[in-house]
Amino acid sequence: MIGIDAIDFTTSRYFIEMSDLAVARGVPVEKYVDGLHQRQMSVAPPNEDAVTLGYAAASKILDDTSDIGLFIFATESSIDQSKSAGTFLLDVLQLPRSCITYEIKQACFSGTAALFAAYNYVAMNKNKRALVVASDIARYTIHSPGEATQGCGAVAMIISNDPKVLSIDPTYGSYSTNTYDFYRPNCQSEAIVDGALSAKMYLTALKESFKEFSVKSGASISDIDYFCYHTPFCKMAIKAHDNLVGDRTSAMADSLVYNSVIGNSYSASLYISLLSLLHNSQNDISGRRIGMFSYGSGCVGQYFCCKPQKNYFDFIKKSDFIALRERISIKEYEAVHYHNSPKYHETSGSLSLETLTSQRKYVLLSKYSKP
Ligand code: HMG
Repeated sequence: MIGIDAIDFTTSRYFIEMSDLAVARGVPVEKYVDGLHQRQMSVAPPNEDAVTLGYAAASKILDDTSDIGLFIFATESSIDQSKSAGTFLLDVLQLPRSCITYEIKQACFSGTAALFAAYNYVAMNKNKRALVVASDIARYTIHSPGEATQGCGAVAMIISNDPKVLSIDPTYGSYSTNTYDFYRPNCQSEAIVDGALSAKMYLTALKESFKEFSVKSGASISDIDYFCYHTPFCKMAIKAHDNLVGDRTSAMADSLVYNSVIGNSYSASLYISLLSLLHNSQNDISGRRIGMFSYGSGCVGQYFCCKPQKNYFDFIKKSDFIALRERISIKEYEAVHYHNSPKYHETSGSLSLETLTSQRKYVLLSKYSKP
């Protein structure tokens, strides 16, 4: 049986309140809090990039690394067009010299692509484990409709043949098509998005990939006990659940606890939903079937299932780092957003970005970053 042996996540140490953003943008607070179902949004300071966040998540779960033979880094916030994000972490994570690392990209779907590649690797290499890190910083233009759906986060997972946390059913349904719902050409630091089209494609991919999953597995909705969705903003996951299942929202409410205060974390988002469910469910859900919908714009969707192992809760640590984040003002958030562009000088006033640098033990900056 193959599955997740260890899993943990992280986000940045700063956040803004959605109510502050609504006031600053002249939008009714209810639009963000009820309409998008988001309460807060994580903000990554200039010295935290996808690699830094990925390190912070991976260092929480790695013990003995000698049998890690594969390390896949899933991201669409990469810091180099040639060198994969994982190479920055080979030494600091003390991975063996025999461990292969590479990067996977397909928008938010890449975390799932990495998970299934790791699944196949451990199926062929019985005495090895694989490390998957999915890490992203969601960026849209300030004052655009997408602005309220930013955020950041990273998940790290170890995949093994004898998983302590959950088993993965390799039967999946999928749906792919070439679409321009959301994309970021090389010249852009922020995504270009057609919001209405992106929601439509998300729901189409959900319907079609579930249909194929159902045919291949013989399972129907009533065979699934809990539901996790890629969560660009919580209302999207709620709508997805409504489309797929109808009124059984109680089977997914626990999966939204973290995303509602982090915002979008692209490739990490589905697995942050999974951890949210595992951490926040009042019941022991071992042996229960969890339906997982992964979506990446452009677009690829995949539906699959997993099952928590007996005593899974002994192997997932719930920590309070979300509550320990620091709230920053909208002016500080704007300075962070513009820190590498000429607009920074127009917006930052007397603010010093040094006040926003992270206290993390390790800060891994790309050679080109300007802290
Ligand atoms: P918008 O167009 O400004 O908002 O931006 P809206 O007018 O659609 O309103 C949003 C909701 O608030 C609506 O709820 C309104 O009714 C409600 P709905 O009708 O949809 O249930 N509302 C209010 N509620 C209470 N009181 C009020 C009020 N006013 C309005 N006063 C949009 C929304 C999502 C389009 C925008 O934020 C956006 O473009 N976001 C980025 C794209 C996105 O997240 N798409 C999701 C699917 S694609 C995906 O998931 C992939 C992705 O993660 C990228 C990847 O794969 O890498 C994005």
